[in-house]
Amino acid sequence: MRSHYCGNITSAQIDEEVTLYGWVDRRRDHGGVIFLDLRDREGIVQVVFDPDTKEHFDRADKVRSEYVLQVKGRVRARDESTVNPNMKTGAIEVLGKQLEILNTAATPPFQLDEHIAVGEDVRLKYRYIDLRRPEMLERLKLRSRITSSIRNYLDGNGFLDIETPILTKATPEGARDYLVPSRTHEGKFFALPQSPQLFKQLLMVSGMDRYYQIAKCFRDEDLRADRQPEFTQIDIETSFMDDEQIMAITEGMIRGLFKDVLDVDLGEFPRMPYAEAMDRFGSDKPDLRIPMELVDVNDLMQQVDFKVFNGPANDPKGRVAALKVPGGATISRKKIDEYTKYVSIYGARGLAWIKINDMAAGIEGLQSPILKFMPDDIVNQMMSRLDVADGDIVFFGADKATIVNEALGALRVKVGEDLEMLDKPWAPLWVVDFPMFEENSEGNLTSLHHPFTAPACSPEELAANPEKALSIAYDMVLNGTELGGGSVRIHQPDMQQAVFKVLGIGDEEAQEKFGFLLDALKYGAPPHGGLAFGLDRLVMLITGTKSIRDVIAFPKTQSAACVMTDAPGTADNKQLRELNIKLREKPKAE
Ligand code: AMO
Ligand code: AMP
Repeated sequence: MRSHYCGNITSAQIDEEVTLYGWVDRRRDHGGVIFLDLRDREGIVQVVFDPDTKEHFDRADKVRSEYVLQVKGRVRARDESTVNPNMKTGAIEVLGKQLEILNTAATPPFQLDEHIAVGEDVRLKYRYIDLRRPEMLERLKLRSRITSSIRNYLDGNGFLDIETPILTKATPEGARDYLVPSRTHEGKFFALPQSPQLFKQLLMVSGMDRYYQIAKCFRDEDLRADRQPEFTQIDIETSFMDDEQIMAITEGMIRGLFKDVLDVDLGEFPRMPYAEAMDRFGSDKPDLRIPMELVDVNDLMQQVDFKVFNGPANDPKGRVAALKVPGGATISRKKIDEYTKYVSIYGARGLAWIKINDMAAGIEGLQSPILKFMPDDIVNQMMSRLDVADGDIVFFGADKATIVNEALGALRVKVGEDLEMLDKPWAPLWVVDFPMFEENSEGNLTSLHHPFTAPACSPEELAANPEKALSIAYDMVLNGTELGGGSVRIHQPDMQQAVFKVLGIGDEEAQEKFGFLLDALKYGAPPHGGLAFGLDRLVMLITGTKSIRDVIAFPKTQSAACVMTDAPGTADNKQLRELNIKLREKPKAE
């Protein structure tokens, strides 16, 4: 048994005999004395072997990086001149007396302190080595503290931790399902849960009253830095609580967590209606650390002699908006071209701009490729609406409102980061009053949240005016990331049917897909609601990393594969036969 973790030895242990287990981080031979940096999950300690203990000294001479050792020795103070104030254990060292080599190690594919030089693919292929890096260890340790803090809070508030099935039926959360073929039911498939949504609602019907689960969810969707095909939710559901109460209890959880692990007081979270968030920030997850807003100039652009602008300005679904960047006149033409390319990712067909060089000089003091299209009085009105000052730049977006919002919303964040405009470290908020439905690219209405979300109106009003209906849903946003979202649910079958109807889900299909839920709503379903947080995103924000891959022990790559295990893999013919699956021949390339 170890007596101490390597990284936890301090001056308090001087003169104590210690037994350590760990990996060789570095070995140095200093003219007859061997120094081993021994590493375990808590850190590194320096062990010194001198030739007085010949047998063990000889072994120490043989060890190489990443060998696994047991070391017994005595803790002593370092010479004044060799004290390392940058190291937790830098004031002491262990005089080694016994050394056992528990295992040798092949030369690792990369040195731990050289991980930057190797690509992420190599790090993921040898993830067990990558995880030896202190930085990775610290993130996973923090992740464990985070789940522990959350469990404490929820346990303390009477929530029951209940598991729900992984082999189940599809749960619509807007992504593709991962399917698992059934051997015992020919031609049938389980779906892995996109979330425990339906089961947690059924648990409320059962009377569990307060449920939580740290649940794995599976979604086959396009991956990004904050999306994995397999991720973890802190999933919560309650009965007899309204939206205000659900937001209060979950906000308390996140506030408590930040106090616990970062000693940060987030304060009370402001609320913002969805429509306002889109108008002011072009996003339903605004990053409120960036002090810039979009400003509508639709009315001013209706008459200008520039089709690119007057078209959207006169289109009820269009928008012309401006983004003023204080001090941005120093942004170079080259950078503006880069930003133009950046907004094109979101469908923007250009990025007009006006630099304010000298207000006192009037129109002459402005510089822009679009001034020639605009009468002076329109320009003047615009400048006063935007309250510009010398040295500012204003960017413009004109298109369908959805495109302008996405493009200028993303530009706002990018410019804010580039110019280091963040004016506070943490900016949480609740976004509320979401629409029930949004129009998809085929012009059909789909749920903005999911089809079990309660509308803020009656079934009749919903049927009469579905585009206008708002839901009782709420998202928690932190620093521009959607941390969690939830809603009050529908608990009456007639309302559930009304929603399915708007979504074009007929009675038969509803029965086939969600019959069990519709049945359950008939047998005494309490009013209920809840929310789910993305644990990976929460840990990403708390650890200040840029990708959730950095806070997941064994993440998948951008193409939803695991380069370490080589999953997904092929199935052999016997397995396929048992599953009644025949693979199609690949169509020959034409
Ligand atoms: P939603 O789909 O908004 O809601 O998911 C809740 C939270 O889960 C996180 N998240 C993800 N994290 C990593 N990778 C992904 N692919 C991914 N997808 C989602 C986000 C998100 O806010 N059942 C509802 C919740 C409810 O209504 O109670 C649901 O799943 O942080
Ligand atoms: P053009 O006359 O096409 O050179 O466009 C003049 C300016 O308007 C250029 O700076 C373009 O980048 C910009 N622009 C073109 N289309 C749009 C658009 N849809 N939204 C905003 N700016 C645009």
